[in-house]
Amino acid sequence: MNLGIIGYGNIGELISQNIINHDFYNLNKLYIANRTLSKINHLKDTDPHISVTDDNTEVARNCEKIIISVKTSDLINVLEQIKPHLNKDTQIIHTCAGIDLKFEDNGLSCVIPTISSTYDKNNPKKGVSIIMHDENVSAENKDFVEDLFSKFSHIKVVDNTLDLEIATIAASCMPAFIALSLDLFANKLEERCNLSKEETFKILAETLNSTTYILNEDIYSPDELINKVATKNGITQKGLDVLDEDLPAIYKRLICNLL
Ligand SMILES: NC(=O)c1ccc[n+]([C@@H]2O[C@H](COP(=O)([O-])OP(=O)(O)OC[C@H]3O[C@@H](n4cnc5c(N)ncnc54)[C@H](OP(=O)(O)O)[C@@H]3O)[C@@H](O)[C@H]2O)c1
Repeated sequence: MNLGIIGYGNIGELISQNIINHDFYNLNKLYIANRTLSKINHLKDTDPHISVTDDNTEVARNCEKIIISVKTSDLINVLEQIKPHLNKDTQIIHTCAGIDLKFEDNGLSCVIPTISSTYDKNNPKKGVSIIMHDENVSAENKDFVEDLFSKFSHIKVVDNTLDLEIATIAASCMPAFIALSLDLFANKLEERCNLSKEETFKILAETLNSTTYILNEDIYSPDELINKVATKNGITQKGLDVLDEDLPAIYKRLICNLL
């Protein structure tokens, strides 16, 4: 089977690199198309399974499965461009957030990957990909998408656009929110001590990593963990009081702005 990826930006690259590093999932050929060919030219010499092009119709003519990962505003144009060249059974998957559309009889699957799933050989399955199929997608085609993304991420399948949007915030936007929070906090800590910004950032990032492990593995619930750290009138409790007062309003404003 041939799989095509149209759009080699942040997400097209992430999906391609996961597929390549998982030994191509027994694909016959991986076609990668990008508007700017120079961005993908280097890939063609790395493996005979890979074919690169700036002609999306070449992908349409040759692939049974196509993942489109262009910007949301470019999706309809790409679909219109490839439509006349598709085979009747071609399966189309896209990664575009914030669009609700119908396409051909085989339906469309939307997968919102996350940059958290960037390939890492020591931890090849991470992050949560959010998946929604429309009602025309066959069981076999659903399985293909879910199996593919399960190889390198956890998956959450949803059946309505509101859940898709909410889960997108939690899985796909959140890496950026976390990065900004750590960066701002590191700036403020650095202003008050002799440690450099890089040093405080490293401490925060490692703390985030180890704390996430404890919570993710259910070693402690959030409440149990808070009780382990905070003592009455101690500095952690003072910090918790500040966050408890301010964070709910910030999260409410965030969600209102995103939905
Ligand atoms: N970034 C994330 O964390 C994230 C997470 C989940 C979902 N998404 C969604 O995934 C989609 C892609 O996001 P992204 O961050 O990967 O965007 P991006 O970095 O801007 O990548 C888009 C890619 O599409 C290529 N492209 C544009 N028009 C094309 C065309 N007509 N034919 C072939 N290639 C074309 C661009 O080529 P050039 O090299 O010529 O610019 C670029 O490489 C968006 O809809 C976004 O909402 C993003």
